Amino acid sequence: MVNLAVQIGSLTLKNPVVAASGTFGFGREMQQWNDLSQLGAISSKGLTLNPRLGNDPPRVAETSGGLLNSVGLQNPGLQAFLATELPFMKSLGTTIIANIAGHSLEENVAMAEQLDATDVDGIELNLSCPNVSKGCMAFGSSAPMIEEVVRAVRAQTTKPLWVKLTPNVTSIADMALAAEAAGADAVSLINTLLGLAIDRKSRRPVLRNNTGGLSGPAVKPVALRMVWDVYRAVRIPIIGMGGIMNGEDAIEFMLAGASAIQVGTANLIRPTACQDVVTQMNLIAQSENMSRLSEYTGLMQPW
Ligand code: FUM
Repeated sequence: MVNLAVQIGSLTLKNPVVAASGTFGFGREMQQWNDLSQLGAISSKGLTLNPRLGNDPPRVAETSGGLLNSVGLQNPGLQAFLATELPFMKSLGTTIIANIAGHSLEENVAMAEQLDATDVDGIELNLSCPNVSKGCMAFGSSAPMIEEVVRAVRAQTTKPLWVKLTPNVTSIADMALAAEAAGADAVSLINTLLGLAIDRKSRRPVLRNNTGGLSGPAVKPVALRMVWDVYRAVRIPIIGMGGIMNGEDAIEFMLAGASAIQVGTANLIRPTACQDVVTQMNLIAQSENMSRLSEYTGLMQPW
């Protein structure tokens, strides 16, 4: 028997597999294919104080080995989340994380304050969405700004606080250090890489927003490198993501230093991806005589 549980600060996940924000909705559609109680956690779609319709279509495009999206944080707003989605999610028997993506420091603070009074298990502060003009990546690409926003949110909540980082920076380790200094319990990385797809015939960008965020297997080597960079810089746990398609990918992220992982784009291809990754990680650990999945964290031996 392999012990699958992992510890992220004060939060115990039954296994390291978290459904990534924006690829799993609030779990409603995914429950027809999955026993969602088998997942380590679900991170909600990025929430804003008020409902958002998101960006105009087209807002997704397939690329070689990847997916470009410019959804623009479509979500029902915090009140609808608290009234309808959170009670449903809490009935699923897994850890529920609210991903918040405010356009200002004040909006993030207000959401954290309201979430603190609920039974949500944790907050993932999204400082990394590349598809909106205010907040998110604009905050997450400056270490002083990360420190200011995280400190302000930290002051409002005792919930476990994860900070989701953008790869569109010069040094993601510096960004993680800023989040750690401001009181984050964990960092999650990477969100999407800013990209552009062009339709040669019309000579226009494929996405109506022009640019979008790239995810999927194409970004995995970049993500692994960044997880390793951050692992050597901070002491708080890392939740690694970026192109994880199966259990082998997931174990690689743990070897690079992740304590847990998130599965994102794979959910859009195979709705059972998260559950499959849990099963595959378990089988790999059994075949390697590991007694705990958590033992994989940071085991990579650099040359
Ligand atoms: O555009 C979006 O809704 C993407 C969000 C994110 O990358 O966090």
